[in-house]
Amino acid sequence: MSAESRVWLEINLKTLKENFNKIQAVVEPLHVVAVLKANAYGLGVKPIAETLIKAGAYGFGVAELNEALSLADTGKPVQMLSGVLPSEIPDAVNAGIILPIIDKEIAELISRESVRQGKVTECQFKIDTGMGRVGILAKDAIETISEIVKLPGLDCSGIYSHFPVAYKTGSEYTYGQIEKFYAVLDGLKARGITFRKVHMANSDAINNFSTTYARPFTHVRTGINLHGSFDNEGQRNLKLESVLTLKTRVVGIRTLPAGTNIGYGCTYTLLKDTRVAAISAGYADGLPLALSNRGYVLINGYFCPVLGRISMDYTTVSLEDVPESAVKRGDEVICLGGEGLKSISVETWAQLKGTHAYEIICSFGTRVARKYLPAD
Ligand SMILES: Cc1ncc(COP(=O)(O)O)c(C=O)c1O
Repeated sequence: MSAESRVWLEINLKTLKENFNKIQAVVEPLHVVAVLKANAYGLGVKPIAETLIKAGAYGFGVAELNEALSLADTGKPVQMLSGVLPSEIPDAVNAGIILPIIDKEIAELISRESVRQGKVTECQFKIDTGMGRVGILAKDAIETISEIVKLPGLDCSGIYSHFPVAYKTGSEYTYGQIEKFYAVLDGLKARGITFRKVHMANSDAINNFSTTYARPFTHVRTGINLHGSFDNEGQRNLKLESVLTLKTRVVGIRTLPAGTNIGYGCTYTLLKDTRVAAISAGYADGLPLALSNRGYVLINGYFCPVLGRISMDYTTVSLEDVPESAVKRGDEVICLGGEGLKSISVETWAQLKGTHAYEIICSFGTRVARKYLPAD
């Protein structure tokens, strides 16, 4: 038996579909690879993937083998984006996952396993043009790739690279990466090596660098924009909506006398008699501790400031500006999300916490139920 969750995340699949459509329209005729690593940034990979397939996603990008296997039965191309471990190669080859080649050794392992299984494995070269994480360094790419393409059992279909600062509109660094990548493509072409799949753009690049979704590129890879979120810096070429609303309920309402301390650490003392509500969500649900004494929630259309420190399971908010008849125990509380001016954005939380939207979206707690509002 299980009871209804006190905290739930509403994920609007219609908004997801609309966000996808807007991205696809901008990058047309390029294909959109939806990046669904970490369980679709914590939102639940299955319903998100199903919606995106119906909307026309080309395929999926993930971080690790389990994520890849969870999407293998969709019939869409599934690509591990950064690195594959030697121990993952047999299952990945068997399942037909598109594998990243980040050096010659890994290429040889994939080749050997593919031959052993009697398969041809689709692979893409990951070029490090300035990310400094994994990949074949751009300066070594032409020589290294020229050798790898001779290995048996590999279908070297693609080549790609990734941006660390594409949120900085017009940054020389990003233009420099694009130039390095072009030089690799040109050098390989001169040797007769070309690719069916060529891509660099992530969400930031789609918003800030239009050359990354024009020829010679064939695909873009986007994650955070599908959820309607952006980096705090940079342009927002795309007009997207957040897919998320985090909700909970009012557990108790009291009027406390002036001088009452609120919450752990006694970080807030009421200056006057104040009506307050305890709401049933805390940092275990993903409310950043940084909202303590700084954030607010929405109850029946009223903004209610957070008083004191956020606890693990509860948060106290002021009802000072809420008419007495407008709120009662059990009412819904919007912690994040909402409509128009009556909303609290992922980016607002990110700014208060001194982080980015990715960390906010990936941080909803395990007891937070995921409820999906239908796409149609
Ligand atoms: C290689 C690669 N491409 C694309 C993405 C998608 O990034 P974003 O969510 O910023 O669109 C990621 C995610 O970090 C990635 O690692």
